[in-house]
Amino acid sequence: MKFEEKYKKDALKLGQVKLSDRQGAISWRSPSNIALIKYWGKRQNQLPQNPSLSFVLDKSFTETRLKYRYKRNKGKMASKIDFIFEGKPNSDFGSRVKDFFLAVSEFLPFINYFDFKIESSNSFPHSSGIASSASSMSALALCLVSMELKLFGTPKDKKAFFQKASFLSRLGSGSASRSVFNGFVVWGKHKNIPGSSDELAIRLNQQFSPKFNSLKDAILITSTGKKKVSSSAGHQLMESHPYAAIRFRQAKDNLLNLLEALKTGDEQMFIGIVENEALSLHAMMMASEEGFTLLNENTWKILYKIRQYRKEHKVFITLTLDAGPNVHLLYLAKQETQIFQFIQKELLQFCENEHWIDDKIGRGPIKLI
Ligand code: DP6
Repeated sequence: MKFEEKYKKDALKLGQVKLSDRQGAISWRSPSNIALIKYWGKRQNQLPQNPSLSFVLDKSFTETRLKYRYKRNKGKMASKIDFIFEGKPNSDFGSRVKDFFLAVSEFLPFINYFDFKIESSNSFPHSSGIASSASSMSALALCLVSMELKLFGTPKDKKAFFQKASFLSRLGSGSASRSVFNGFVVWGKHKNIPGSSDELAIRLNQQFSPKFNSLKDAILITSTGKKKVSSSAGHQLMESHPYAAIRFRQAKDNLLNLLEALKTGDEQMFIGIVENEALSLHAMMMASEEGFTLLNENTWKILYKIRQYRKEHKVFITLTLDAGPNVHLLYLAKQETQIFQFIQKELLQFCENEHWIDDKIGRGPIKLI
């Protein structure tokens, strides 16, 4: 646990706050991300059972403003953390935020000396079925690392800053660790990927086929309802899953093959792996002890339509799914007009209130204040 040890050691110097630093505000916009290789199953302390690969989105993000004020009673009483989501107090997410503060206080002990007001909002509608934990936890982690930088002048450089933000994001939500970098991002150790780690995500710096820089993601919303089984419960079901070891092996192999496809620009290989990952994720849910599915009839209808369209039009179009029934239709920007027509004519009928989000590969988080 190389990073954990380092951050614990650093924490010894992050206790005393200067009088001049008694209050302030920081704000970050952080994106959601979509995994092509799926994280499904974790060990203690938010460590993944297999490596995953994702890219951040452009239009789906969270903006978080963190206001801090030094407490008179310095650390004697627990910090007050007021969490306001889209203008209103939100107790569900508010308690997750409190757990997050507790988890990160080991690495950022100075936060115990402050009270906080956190205002957060998402670019995507609250009930759009898009998981917001990656964008919201990473936005919060980025604010806290910025606070450390303001108060103590550390982390010293940009690389160290984002590494720590990724590490802390992970403690809030595993997939959030991948939201702080642009490009293709890997979280989880793979022996063939230098620098990869279970503790934090890394941006892959190798040369990939440039066409994948223009990846677009049409998020087709088939249901905005609350999920029957949460991701956390889903991860837990992998602990006693009969196929767990095979699944973790499959994800590792798929990751290496996907890297090859990204390098060579092999579209067929890309499609094969990405759809295999999406369906394997949902197959795990069905084959678990609980035996459930998050997919609905319209998810399947869209899936068949996409495969049929690809066959007929010989165009690069594929899909992935996260832990829910909405379909992420992936294609290249140069085919936008054609794909928009396909969505309008053939897919919108399967979307709840014809709702979809026209998203694409994004540029990563932005500091707002
Ligand atoms: C299916 O990151 O939401 O989207 O770590 O418990 O917060 P926690 O889970 P979460 O799981 C995401 C699972 C996934 C696949 C992925 O994003 O890799």
